This record gives sequence, C-alpha cells and structure tokens, in this order.
Amino acid sequence: MSAPLGLAVIGTNWISNSFVQSSHESTKFQLKAVYSRTIDTARKFISQTPSVEDASSVKAFDNLDEMLTGSDIDVVYIASPNSFHYEHGIKSLTAGKHIIVEKPFVSNADEVRGLYKLADTKGLFVIEAWRHIQEPNFLKLQSLLDNKKQREDKFGKIYGAHVSLAVYNPEYAKAPEDGKEANVVLPKFSGGCLWDVGCYSVAFIFALFGTPARQSYLPIVIRTGVDGGGNMIFHYTEETSKHKQKFVVHAQSSKLYVSHAPTEIYCEKGTIRINGVSSITEINTIEFIPHGSSTGEELANTKPEYSDLLNLTWEAREFGRIIQEGDKKAEARLRDLSLDILIAMEEMRKSNGIFFGSDR
Ligand SMILES: NC(=O)c1ccc[n+]([C@@H]2O[C@H](COP(=O)([O-])OP(=O)(O)OC[C@H]3O[C@@H](n4cnc5c(N)ncnc54)[C@H](OP(=O)(O)O)[C@@H]3O)[C@@H](O)[C@H]2O)c1
Repeated sequence: MSAPLGLAVIGTNWISNSFVQSSHESTKFQLKAVYSRTIDTARKFISQTPSVEDASSVKAFDNLDEMLTGSDIDVVYIASPNSFHYEHGIKSLTAGKHIIVEKPFVSNADEVRGLYKLADTKGLFVIEAWRHIQEPNFLKLQSLLDNKKQREDKFGKIYGAHVSLAVYNPEYAKAPEDGKEANVVLPKFSGGCLWDVGCYSVAFIFALFGTPARQSYLPIVIRTGVDGGGNMIFHYTEETSKHKQKFVVHAQSSKLYVSHAPTEIYCEKGTIRINGVSSITEINTIEFIPHGSSTGEELANTKPEYSDLLNLTWEAREFGRIIQEGDKKAEARLRDLSLDILIAMEEMRKSNGIFFGSDR
C-alpha cells in the first residue's frame, strides 16, 4: 500500500473539515497544512478537526505562497469561494502540487482549459470534487444504464427524466438587514444557484446520460444579478446520448424554495425513482416501478456506509487512488466531464445576461 498523500487545504469552512475527515477515513491522504486568511482561523481549524490526532503535525499558514513551498505537500484541496478557485489552482500547480478543486470547478470554460494546460506542462493531476457521482448508489445506477443488455431487458428505452434539486437558503430569498450580502449570491464571487447547487444536477445528468446536443435555462434572477434558481432543459440525440437515444431531461434547481419531489427516469417498461437528501445528492433509495405496479423493486443500498461529514470518503478514496496509481485515463474521463459541464453552464448563464467578475 502506498504512503498517504500529503494534503494541504485552502478554505476553512465546514466543507474543508468534511473533506479532511473523509480523506483520513479513506487512508489515502494525511493533512499537513492549512491556509486561512488569518492564522488563528487556520489553527482553530486544525484543533477542531477530530481526525487530526496530533495537531502539532499540521502547519497553519496565513501566507499561501509560503504554504505551497512545503515539500511534504503532494495535493492541495481548494475550497475557497468559487471565484478564487482558478487563481488558487494556478498557484498550486505552479508550485508543483496536484489539485482537487471543489465544485463548481471555476467560473468559465477558459479557466478550466487554463488549469488543464498548466497541469499538463507540469505532469500534475487536476480533479473537480464531484461527490455525488462517486457514491456507490449513483455508480450502481450508472452501471445499470450503461450495460446495454441489462438496460434494454429491464427498463427498455429511455424516454426522458426529471431531476429535482431545490434547497431553501434565506441568503437568496431576502437582502440582509446589514446590507452585507453572502459570497454565494454575489457575481464577484461567481455565485448564484447554478454555480451553487444547479451544477450538481448538470453533473448528475451529464455523468448518467452523456453530454447533450444542446441545453437551455430559464432562471429567476435575484436582486444581486445572479440566479436564485430556474428550469433547465437538456436535449439528447442518438449521436449525443450515451445510450444512443433521443430524449429530453428536465431539471429544476432552486435556492428560493424546497423541492420534495424525487428524481425520476422514465423508461419504456416503467419508472426509476430516486430519493435522497435533495434527491440526487446522497441517494438513499433507487427503485424501479414497472408499469401497472404500485410497488417498486429496490435497486440501491438504503444504508450507505458513510454519512454526514464522512460522506466525501468515496470521492477521497477514488481521487487518492487516481493520483497514487497515476491513472491518467480515469483523470481524463473526469476532466472531459468537468469541461463539458462548465461549457454548458457558462452558456446557460451568459445567455441569461448573468456575468461574473472573471468574465470581464
Ligand atoms: N461538495 C460539497 O458538498 C460542497 C458543500 C459546500 C460547499 N462546497 C464548495 O466549497 C467552496 C467553498 O464554499 P463555502 O460555502 O465554504 O464558501 P465561503 O464560506 O464563502 O468561503 C470558503 C472559505 O474561503 C475563505 N473566504 C471567505 N470569503 C473570502 C473572501 N472574500 N476572500 C478570500 N477568501 C475568502 C474563508 O476561509 P478563511 O477565512 O479561512 O480564509 C472561507 O472559510 C465552494 O466552491 C462551494 O461550492 C462544496
């Protein structure tokens, strides 16, 4: 077994804590350094991360360039506000470190290409941290649909799908009394629902069905100029669908209200229904309900091995494996997916007049 990869973290919110704990659980990584804009926050993060057994073995930094000189760091996990991902990625790659970048990767497709180009000249890995498409229940669903014989025997043709992901966040719904808007609703931080949670639906759809021929988005634009949510349509043709079929996928995504609707895939022989925390992130159940039946056949594990802050363990295990084994083919598949997602998201955003600071 290879030695754990030395890990550094940028960003000290709860998601970084979750990634560190999950990466330790995966045994593929060992935290070595934490960067924060303030040294006290970095120290607090280290002391408050339960999986760090010896706090003195992890260094705290308030200077990013200094942290990146560390010879014990192999991989940098980037969980800063979206608009900083590119700059932090370029700095980390320039310093010779592999990067794992939180979704939604960066602000536009040119920034994706910029990261890939630099990584290639340096022989480094660049991985976008999509959690939900590394989870076993998603992988089970994906393999059921990818296996042509199994798919045709059990489900028949795919006619379409409805993907639902809407989670209420008051920061979108109302202007704060002190006038200080959250990063996540500001164009200068590459905010908005599509870059926040809509991207999960896009990744789920593209990973499951392939890259569509075209897409459109009808958003509700909020006071700050970003989208509070909206409806997306993805058109698949026989040439573009992974399953060589023509169909349409609809996705509703919002931070202005909650959806309790499941995600459904409509097939010739019945409906696949997916339930979970916000339906597609952390899938709890997947069932197939044949036409004429009121009960479904369970297709997925109802008790996943990891939950809560450890639910990034599957992705950490896979990303650690890819880097340790130098699995360039697996990385290339993830890279292609991430680029296609960003191209589509950028088009959906800009066609609605939503622009980020980095677009100018
Ligand atoms: N995979 C998932 O399930 C998941 C869940 C949540 C978030 N995310 C992603 O993780 C990333 C971070 O999200 P978040 O909600 O944690 O963002 P955030 O709270 O706005 O910022 C993350 C960290 O960046 C630093 N930061 C905050 N404001 C900054 C500013 N103005 N300039 C420079 N640095 C600043 C802060 O760390 P310091 O104060 O220590 O510098 C903060 O802890 C996003 O890309 C988000 O999409 C992913």
